[in-house]
Amino acid sequence: MCGIVGYIGLPEKTSTHSALDVLLEGLRRLEYRGYDSAGVATVADGVIEGRKKSGKLANLVAEIEAAPLREASLGIGHTRWATHGGPTDQNAHPHFGDQGRLAVIHNGIIENFAELKQKLLAAGEVFESETDTEVAAKLIGRYYRNAGDLTEAMRLASNELEGAFTLLAVHVDQPDRVVASRRNSPLVVGLGEGENFLGSDVSGFIDFTREAVELEQDQIVTITTDDVAIINFDGTPAEGKRFHIDWDASAAEKGGYDSFMEKEINEQPKAVEDTLLGRTDASGQLTLDELRIDPEELKNTSKIIVLACGTAAYAGHVAKYAIEHWCRIPVEVELAHEFRYRDPIIDENTLVVSISQSGETMDTLMAVRYAKEQGARTLSICNTNGSTIPRESDAVLYLHAGPEIAVASTKAFLAMIAASYLLGLYLAQLRGQLFREEIKDILADLHKIPAKIQKILDSSEDIKALARAMKDTPSVLFLGRHVGFPVALEGALKLKELAYIHAEGFAAGELKHGPIALIEQDQPVFVVVPSPRGRDSLHSKVVSNIQEVRARGAKTITVAEAGDDAVREFSETVFFVPETSPLLMPLLTTVPLQIFACALAAEKGYDVDQPRNLAKSVTVE
Ligand code: F6R
Repeated sequence: MCGIVGYIGLPEKTSTHSALDVLLEGLRRLEYRGYDSAGVATVADGVIEGRKKSGKLANLVAEIEAAPLREASLGIGHTRWATHGGPTDQNAHPHFGDQGRLAVIHNGIIENFAELKQKLLAAGEVFESETDTEVAAKLIGRYYRNAGDLTEAMRLASNELEGAFTLLAVHVDQPDRVVASRRNSPLVVGLGEGENFLGSDVSGFIDFTREAVELEQDQIVTITTDDVAIINFDGTPAEGKRFHIDWDASAAEKGGYDSFMEKEINEQPKAVEDTLLGRTDASGQLTLDELRIDPEELKNTSKIIVLACGTAAYAGHVAKYAIEHWCRIPVEVELAHEFRYRDPIIDENTLVVSISQSGETMDTLMAVRYAKEQGARTLSICNTNGSTIPRESDAVLYLHAGPEIAVASTKAFLAMIAASYLLGLYLAQLRGQLFREEIKDILADLHKIPAKIQKILDSSEDIKALARAMKDTPSVLFLGRHVGFPVALEGALKLKELAYIHAEGFAAGELKHGPIALIEQDQPVFVVVPSPRGRDSLHSKVVSNIQEVRARGAKTITVAEAGDDAVREFSETVFFVPETSPLLMPLLTTVPLQIFACALAAEKGYDVDQPRNLAKSVTVE
């Protein structure tokens, strides 16, 4: 949600880069975070210059081509997901303070901006936009006029701001630094030779360096060409935590696919494989020592609460079925934004498991913090190393799915499910709830999943053809039971967000309690069919549900296990997925639904990587 990038290198004609090149490259990689507008500010020859434009980054690039900037060695860049003020040129960042001598960009929401704006208006400041960011720019500008130092001005202003913010600033009178401030919004520093970088995440500077520094909350960082100085909001010096970025830049390129989404769907065999990798020892025992939590404490868990949003929450629903079945521990799954407003019952034996691809989702972060305050132990299942949620959790299980660039989640979803299975099996192992051989068998099944996903990908032409044929469909329903229910919800969400088609997912058993009224002639209904080898009667119940909707005119499209010939008779179209154990089926049945949504959206000519109104990491509540 808003991407920010900052750069300082040696003055021109040296070994470092042109600021504009670094900023535009960083914004290109960060555009997935928001694409309502983009802008840059640079300082060169004693002049501060800005360009900003509503719409995608390409519009900003055209603007700069039409009105070039001076060659500069420092600057800041922003790609916006609008919160305060519509996506207009005027509301685009940067915003200016100190009579145009200071430029500021911002990610987050400043909650006391209205009150501060009144004070600043009364003090004679003039505003050009409706944004909360401009309030910060004017405030920093006023402090600068007294302090004559950008770091101190940023520190004083930050102490007055409430809410969530990463702010980056440059001032024409201090062309040797870029200053940033962080509270509850992401910020990392990239380390170079004679140059340093700032980014919302490492993709903002991955083309230029693999060495980075993580900051804590409530800190200010000042980067110069040869130094990175960190202080806390109270002015005391602080140390950042250095880390190496272990994915290469090509992981964030399309690699021959038309879209990142297609690439990421096709990377799912590897994403699942990498999630499973190295987590068993030679004897077949699960070893999750990396969890950083005392196994004895985990053993005493009496209740698990899974917190997540959107697709990650659907992965949490799958986790519930598996963990309850294997470990006999009650599991609640809750949308993170609902959790802390309902007085949840938590004690020291409650394990709160958050699931998040980005590790920055504000709703999830706030829920985790609340759970910690209430005394719960917190474990984060996350894809992004060094992000805030894992850092603030007692324990972490990383996915290792690699960067996910398309805004709508695909490979991270499967990796989250795989990681949840590992957690469930580990708890079962600790508590002696499953026999060693049973765990081994399930793990063996899990390790066969990547090849099975590959098989689905290799035979996806029929799904794509159906998607193309259905491009004008106004509404699609998805049904599932047991672990197929969250898959149905995910199938519907993918279709909504990628193809802008009305889609609903239902528990198949719920149909007769109301939703069946939606069925009319030719209504397409996807049904995720459980394995016929699973729980007694589950399969036959779903087959009955298929018949019920068919009898009312629905066109049924089923996703079923290979060999399940019983469903053929009741399906307009069947997509078979390879056999696996019934609880693991979501790792397979999800894939045709992702392919369907992606192909249908592409057929409609939509940008599947950057659907309208969305942003990749939602860092506002
Ligand atoms: C949908 C999607 C979102 C995210 C949700 C949580 O395709 O991607 O629903 O799953 O915003 O994001 P993370 O996992 O980053 O916490």
